[in-house]
Amino acid sequence: METIAGKNIIIGVTGGIAAYKTLILARLFINNEAILKVVMTKAAESFIGPLSFQAISGSKIGLDILDPVFDSGMDHIELARDADLIIIAPATANTIAKIAHGFSDNLLTSIILASTSPVMICPAMNNNMWANQATIDNINILKKRGVHVCGPAYGELACSDSGAGRMEEPEFIFEDSLRLLSENDFSDTRFLISAGPTQEPIDPVRYITNRSSGKMGYELARAARIRGAEVTLVSGPTNLPGPVGVEMINIRTAKEMSDAIKKKFTDCDICIMAAAVGDYRSQKQSEQKIKKDMDVLNINFEKNPDILLGLGKQKGDKFLVGFAAETQDLIKNATKKLFKKNLNMIVANDVSRTDAGFQTNTNQVHILTEKTAIKLPLMSKFRAAHGILNSIKAMRNE
Ligand code: C5P
Repeated sequence: METIAGKNIIIGVTGGIAAYKTLILARLFINNEAILKVVMTKAAESFIGPLSFQAISGSKIGLDILDPVFDSGMDHIELARDADLIIIAPATANTIAKIAHGFSDNLLTSIILASTSPVMICPAMNNNMWANQATIDNINILKKRGVHVCGPAYGELACSDSGAGRMEEPEFIFEDSLRLLSENDFSDTRFLISAGPTQEPIDPVRYITNRSSGKMGYELARAARIRGAEVTLVSGPTNLPGPVGVEMINIRTAKEMSDAIKKKFTDCDICIMAAAVGDYRSQKQSEQKIKKDMDVLNINFEKNPDILLGLGKQKGDKFLVGFAAETQDLIKNATKKLFKKNLNMIVANDVSRTDAGFQTNTNQVHILTEKTAIKLPLMSKFRAAHGILNSIKAMRNE
């Protein structure tokens, strides 16, 4: 799923101080062209005015189950039927308890009871309330019923305590919700993805690396996770935050990447090596900082293991994808690697372009297999990631 445009989202706001952050969550859905309805409990109105949500969502806010204006256009049954996803953010201990036990004493709890839509709750409360056995039991009831629980995060709380109880940040909640809105065509599939550059140390303060930003591999991990997969991302040093819901393994050198990948390879169904693994490492690493005494400094480099080549030899029925970053003879060189490394697919991109390849947010890729060659147009790396996943899916279904 590349877009949530046209999806029907209901955000339920209950009475917690984090309610102000829900405005940002609402804006994220609107900016992504979802159709948003906001429902507030009485307690929520003590923290934030309905007008704020009305301004952002562009439609009247549902406040009362007996509200004649709101109910005239869409009663709670109709609202519940139309939703692709209902998110309660913040979800107080009180509302969590109510929905766990089937109460329907306000518009929000009535919608939840009447709905068969996916529900996501974002708890926000004092850490002791969160740790209370009553809340734990209620959360377990909801989880068993298929409700998705996002958070809470650990940190400073409004009541000046600190602990588990903070509502997750709006960007995190938004990202997490995408999985619930997607078709989940990769559920029960385990991905192992590598991303970013590697760093090969020369001395304690210097290293050799390359210009890879890691963006393509991170977007692949993100897209696979949104489509329902279980994803492990082995990443070299990048400036990117780990994608929501993805298991991160951070490494530095090619050797460390090789060790991490080997450990995880047996458990995966699909492995995508999008990392720009350093081909060479310094033969010796000086224990002390190298002084600038010499006019010419010679460093000998030795070859790193080719991780993907090794995986190709032991791949069995796993689906193996490589990347080929080339500056010349793109298709010819990539095709050579497809066969040499015994891959199911290779994604080729021309890294001499300024709008594709390293460090850009866009990419123009060729997806090559033994039998097919697809050229995707220039697009965001997220869309390119979906294109690659679509090709993998098509080939695995053959
Ligand atoms: O470096 P090369 O162009 O051969 O990279 C092609 C593919 O091989 C990429 O998918 C890259 O992640 C992988 N590779 C690797 N180990 C290396 C070098 C490259 O797994 N030492």
